[in-house]
Amino acid sequence: MPEAVATRLIAPTGPGIAEAAALLRSGALVAFPTETVYGLGGDARSDLAVARIFAAKGRPRFNPLIVHVPDLAAAAAVAHVSPEAERLAAAFWPGPLTLVLPLREGAGLSPLVTAGNESVAIRVPAHPVAQALLRAFGGPLAAPSANPSGKVSPTRAAHVLAGLAGRVAAVVDGGPCAVGLESSIVALDPPRLLRPGGLPLEAIEACLGGPLASDPDPARPLAPGQLASHYAPAAALRLDAQAPVAGEVWIGFGTPVSGGALTLSASGDLVEAAANLFHALREADALAGPKGRIAVSPIPEKGLGRAINDRLRRAAAPR
Ligand code: TXA
Ligand code: MG
Repeated sequence: MPEAVATRLIAPTGPGIAEAAALLRSGALVAFPTETVYGLGGDARSDLAVARIFAAKGRPRFNPLIVHVPDLAAAAAVAHVSPEAERLAAAFWPGPLTLVLPLREGAGLSPLVTAGNESVAIRVPAHPVAQALLRAFGGPLAAPSANPSGKVSPTRAAHVLAGLAGRVAAVVDGGPCAVGLESSIVALDPPRLLRPGGLPLEAIEACLGGPLASDPDPARPLAPGQLASHYAPAAALRLDAQAPVAGEVWIGFGTPVSGGALTLSASGDLVEAAANLFHALREADALAGPKGRIAVSPIPEKGLGRAINDRLRRAAAPR
């Protein structure tokens, strides 16, 4: 159990970013907004800071962390970037795409970050607060989603505090995340989708000019964090529900809402639904109460709908 600290809420201003960067330099943990979800940041070069991330989340040590850098040049300092990787980076960085690349020898990352692997997952976030923090800090930040391991990812500063208050030094409050789903993770040679996410598969395939393979064995995922039960609310989830039955809290999609009912998007917009997903799951969970039940409308399996359904299936999986 990590020692309790008083978690500070920091405004995303110049002085706030400077304070957050100073905390990170001291080896402390700072949660910060990205366009996908809030990340739990720590100095990726420091064994102590990275160990603190695993402890604060209760995350298994075999599950490696994503390294966040401000741009492609900083990525190339820690990993080998092949021409194919560079094509994806040029098209989608900064943005909701993580690339798994061969780790550069002598990159100076803590071996805990990669869980001893010879590859490293790298992401260049687009959120202006994440960019400002990376530049003020001046080094790579390891940052998993800022939630206790296995729980719903945070898309607002209040979500981070609900799960990690007392376990992290500070949260930089950048408001709600625009994308709302974690980054898509792609490994290369050959290109494979390890996790569907905030960048639609269709966009990645259009850039590469061919189909992406998917993770060959879901029981032994290549992205070790992709275990069956994840993103789990306390309530039980029923998916592809045409309507709620008695006692269920309903999360709709593509149908008009009335009187306080929850919806991912009344108009059936998948981008809006992605941005609302994790907040809606938290709200439904609070309404459902202990041992409650949540029912969710069908979501089309295309575009961001693939990642929404991936998260819903894991949230509904037996635990
Ligand atoms: O959008 C995101 O990606 C957010 C924000 C904060 O950047 N981060 C995030 O991190 O979702 P996390 O730790 O919750 O998920 C990282 C995933 C895990 O499934 C992990 O197993 C996988 O990335 N991963 C990390 N390093 C890897 C590697 N070297 N090879 C394969 N998978 C890796
Ligand atoms: Mg996560």
